[in-house]
Amino acid sequence: MTKELPNLAVLGATGVVGREILNILKENNVKYNSIKFLASARSAGSKIEFDGKEYTIIEAKDEEFDGVNICLASAGGETSKRFAPVAASKGCVFIDNSSAFRMDKEVPLVIAGVNDEDLRKHRGIVANPNCSTSQLMLPLKALDEKYKVKRMIVSTYQAVSGAGLKAINELTDNTKTNLVGMPFENKAFKYEIGFNVIPQIDVFCENGYTKEEMKVTNETRKILHFDESVKISCTAVRVPVYVGHSEAVTVEFEKEITAEGARDLLKNTWGVEVVDDIENFKYPTPKDAAGKDPVYVGRIRKSIAFDNGLDFFCVADNLRIGAALNTVRLAQKVIEMELY
Ligand SMILES: NC(=O)c1ccc[n+]([C@@H]2O[C@H](COP(=O)([O-])OP(=O)(O)OC[C@H]3O[C@@H](n4cnc5c(N)ncnc54)[C@H](OP(=O)(O)O)[C@@H]3O)[C@@H](O)[C@H]2O)c1
Repeated sequence: MTKELPNLAVLGATGVVGREILNILKENNVKYNSIKFLASARSAGSKIEFDGKEYTIIEAKDEEFDGVNICLASAGGETSKRFAPVAASKGCVFIDNSSAFRMDKEVPLVIAGVNDEDLRKHRGIVANPNCSTSQLMLPLKALDEKYKVKRMIVSTYQAVSGAGLKAINELTDNTKTNLVGMPFENKAFKYEIGFNVIPQIDVFCENGYTKEEMKVTNETRKILHFDESVKISCTAVRVPVYVGHSEAVTVEFEKEITAEGARDLLKNTWGVEVVDDIENFKYPTPKDAAGKDPVYVGRIRKSIAFDNGLDFFCVADNLRIGAALNTVRLAQKVIEMELY
């Protein structure tokens, strides 16, 4: 017997990621019995349009999770820590975009289409990986299955939308003041982001890496079930781009690899689109990826630094695959696999 359609809640529905979740729920034609939209007291009472109907934003409180089967949450770590256990105790599957539970052993960390089977282990909370990790998982999983990853070095070029609405507005304001030569007081970033790049995302850890960089190492290992012998290092950089994270990736494999072999494999990988024709100057850029679902891969070449190495450039919409799209896909998997 198939299950009844789920009752859904979107927590953080008024935020950058939350709004994208609403768009994608509609685009992907997710079927539900009921849906409600939760945020903080600040936006409670305001109106939101979804699927041709007007809804009122409700303040998130414990009792709002009664009868909810699946909650798609993007309201920050503290809010998730506050509500995820409550929702789970009421039988809700809480799909969380924040970093609060990602490395919790009891919580599956999942990219749809990569490690879906891990969803079966959920105990009420499922974590969505960090955006810079997320976009790499589809191509990396395919490459690992065929060539076996030994070591990976990633440099990211991350869009400001990854830091929320305040950061988006700061790029606009800062660019304007730079153009007319006026002083600017940066708030969202440590340095001015207009016409600049900033080699710090999140706070520094004891080992000199930032938390964002360590997320790439730790989350990649958790999602792809790599042990500590697979070495992963990342440098995460914020760039003055609104939407679309780019990553320069070098991977060393156990087995011999060729650029042609990797290109053919990735052309046939679900969720990945290869844009790689240097003779015609075709490679992915964040402007092309914004608003789209695939992870774009280009500049595929055999590394001259490692014997069995591959270099490539990977671009995706950070608000989609890196957040809202994967959240919705996870909800769809939970429904499909009847895990609610
Ligand atoms: N932006 C990205 O690319 C990205 C990627 C991956 C993960 N994430 C994660 O997703 C989350 C949201 O990011 P965002 O960029 O969408 O932030 P945002 O634009 O600042 O939105 C935050 C949302 O959370 C709600 N909220 C805040 N405090 C709350 C509370 N105490 N109770 C209920 N709702 C509350 C806000 O509601 P009000 O309108 O009432 O303030 C708003 O809807 C964060 O955890 C972030 O780390 C973001």
